Amino acid sequence: MSDLSSLRLPATADLTVLRQTVADWRQQGLRIGFVPTMGALHEGHLSLIQQAREKANRVVASIFVNPAQFAPGEDFDAYPRTMGIDAAKLANANCDLLYAPLASDMYPEGFSTKLTVEGPAQGLETDFRPHFFAGVAVVVTKLFNRIQPDIAIFGEKDYQQLLVIQRMVRDLDLPIEIIPGTTLRERDGLALSSRNAYLSTKDRETAAKLNEILAAFAHDLSKDVDWEMAQGKALAKSANVFDRVDYIEARCANTLTALRPGPVKQPARVLAAVWLGQTRLIDNMAVE
Ligand code: PAJ
Repeated sequence: MSDLSSLRLPATADLTVLRQTVADWRQQGLRIGFVPTMGALHEGHLSLIQQAREKANRVVASIFVNPAQFAPGEDFDAYPRTMGIDAAKLANANCDLLYAPLASDMYPEGFSTKLTVEGPAQGLETDFRPHFFAGVAVVVTKLFNRIQPDIAIFGEKDYQQLLVIQRMVRDLDLPIEIIPGTTLRERDGLALSSRNAYLSTKDRETAAKLNEILAAFAHDLSKDVDWEMAQGKALAKSANVFDRVDYIEARCANTLTALRPGPVKQPARVLAAVWLGQTRLIDNMAVE
């Protein structure tokens, strides 16, 4: 970890400093917004900071590559870590405080608590990364408890994660408003992602097809095509283009429960996870 004192915005790994700073703001009656991240920041992350700025008086961003949401063999070690550059971007975005805790402080020896969210966490990502939402739920709860923000912004890019956090906050009576942030995309439609840095030039071109395939899937559903037929088409196209398809599915947009057979008659969302080489891409889209 780089020395946080040399960064271009107030930054701390220290819980006491974090609590003191937030307590001072709160005493001044300021509203606090929070954007949790794992760093390797791109314009998508920064758009969430911007959104938090519009809705709160002070904005805290966290950078923590959370070991609990990676399974052995996933890309925890390879995950890009660019603290100095990230801090400069946060400073330019007028973020007020960067909180970058150490793993040894978040998960001290003897840490034994697990959080299981069901409902929207069932299926999709969980079928392929069964550890994932338990790891996200525990780290987000800890960050919420440490920062105690009034609002927190989560990107629709990780739509299932957004719904899981909204569900958990309601279930546990956490006094935090969860606000969705729209997905920022490259010109060719590829959703910005820290993991896009892993893509070769050739794979980078292919990656944009995910957006096209999802858009065609969503379009078919909006034209009352039977969702199983539309899904079959999307699956066949994806299998042609990508090295592996984890899932490409249509679900109820509000709960992520399965759709009734036939044409879609309720708000729906299409969601997918596919692989190009060693890189896993996820994306999703509303059915208009
Ligand atoms: P990370 O992948 O760094 O994403 C941080 C936030 O940025 C998430 O809310 C994500 O949905 C949002 N985001 C990612 N790409 C985006 C894009 N192209 N446009 C808009 N927003 C985008 O998600 C996580 O980290 C972690 O699971 C975390 C919640 C921090 C818990 O460890």
